[in-house]
Amino acid sequence: MGAPREHFSSKLGFILAAAGSAVGIGNIVGFPVNAAKNGGGAFLLMYAIFVFAICLPVMMAEMSVGRKTAKNPVGAYGALAGQNSKWRLAGLLSIITPFMIAVFYTVLTIWIFIYLVMTVAGQLDYLASADGFSEIINSPWLFASMVAVGGVVAFILKAGVKQGIERAAKIMMPALFVMLILLVIFVLTLDNAMAGLQFYLVPDLDKITPSVISGALSQAFFSLSLGMGILITYGSYISNKTDIEESAKLVAITDTSVAFIAGLMILPAIFSFNPEVNTEELSDSSVSMIFVFLPKIFLALQASVGYFLASAIASVFFLLVFFAAITSLVSIIEVPVSYLIDEKGHDRKKALATIFIWGGLLAVLSTLSFGMVDWLTSLTSYGSGTKSLFDVIYDMFYDTILPLNGLLICLFVSFRWKKHNLNAELSEGNPSYGKSFLAKYVDFSLGTFIPFILAAIFINTVAKIYFGYDVFS
Ligand code: TRP
Repeated sequence: MGAPREHFSSKLGFILAAAGSAVGIGNIVGFPVNAAKNGGGAFLLMYAIFVFAICLPVMMAEMSVGRKTAKNPVGAYGALAGQNSKWRLAGLLSIITPFMIAVFYTVLTIWIFIYLVMTVAGQLDYLASADGFSEIINSPWLFASMVAVGGVVAFILKAGVKQGIERAAKIMMPALFVMLILLVIFVLTLDNAMAGLQFYLVPDLDKITPSVISGALSQAFFSLSLGMGILITYGSYISNKTDIEESAKLVAITDTSVAFIAGLMILPAIFSFNPEVNTEELSDSSVSMIFVFLPKIFLALQASVGYFLASAIASVFFLLVFFAAITSLVSIIEVPVSYLIDEKGHDRKKALATIFIWGGLLAVLSTLSFGMVDWLTSLTSYGSGTKSLFDVIYDMFYDTILPLNGLLICLFVSFRWKKHNLNAELSEGNPSYGKSFLAKYVDFSLGTFIPFILAAIFINTVAKIYFGYDVFS
């Protein structure tokens, strides 16, 4: 046995780290745009209900499995189901999935870092120009940026759970929050800000269709870091004194609040840029919003505040997104790292080196799949057409396998580990848990409608992505 397992130093440290994992690029642009386009206040309300009614029990289950076993996902499934159990495969899926998600998320983080550096260097006008984005995703600077991003993540993870992950979250999360609030205050003073707020918040029930509902649920699920093995892993670093119910609620509230507040910045900014904006055309994709659309908005600010201040504001924004991305990246890479440490007996350094070599290689290949190398760019074709290596990784792991992992953990906890064990674990650090309404709700929902819903999402995603058939539309 190696050194004793490290722990977060406090409940707050754990909550910030888990919230840091959950808050990512999707919260800052994906959620606001999606909400605004798909029913405003009605979408927000529905999303909040999904977070608490469907995602919270899954989150509590993942954290409990992690804490009970004090192991990575493979070790955790093995410890509870037996070392030869097929459930270990579910654990393995919870190692491979985050590893592959880390690959595509690294690519996005590399772009963000380039945008950050360029806005700080006064190149906002270039980023806002027509070819800015397409040139950047094919430039040699990507590799320098990859080294920088890899360096930051390695620096954090090498320092371990308390000195690395927790400390980074304790610095970056409050900073992120302050930057977000400052940007909101600034944006709300712009002309036409109120039109943006109205578009964001006024409920429009007509827009709530079955496909919007299923989209909102998937988004809530992904946003909270569920199905990625992250909360099992982070849960393995908390003590029995930590109240899991309360921690999970605070993580869910933080993640949802950041997403909500980001909308108070993004939508007014869009409307002040162009009050006549054709909202149908606002892209559904966070990627084109962040990298193509928002730089134009920041540049347009120069008319009222000058180029220098516009660049400063854009820099703050990209720093905020960069922090959000780094804390997510750290959490997701920690999953395979903890697997190598627990199961293969590596020390932290060797585990990190292994993951960085293989993950780095795949990240380089994904980076090359935006046009630099032809066969990676048109690797294969299914569903909506030609797919690059990056698309394949995204479709397979982020879209398809995540809900499957969520489904597996629900079934595992309900029917293999058994709910009385879950209840007992949740009562550690929270003696009155067993008698609460939530306990009864979690007990019932985890083995009934939650897995059913996740299975439906999984099947619909497979049909949609690979066969071009959407059950809900
Ligand atoms: N909320 C994240 C986002 O909006 C999604 C996410 C959750 C994530 N956990 C993650 C992404 C871990 C990467 C790694 O982008």
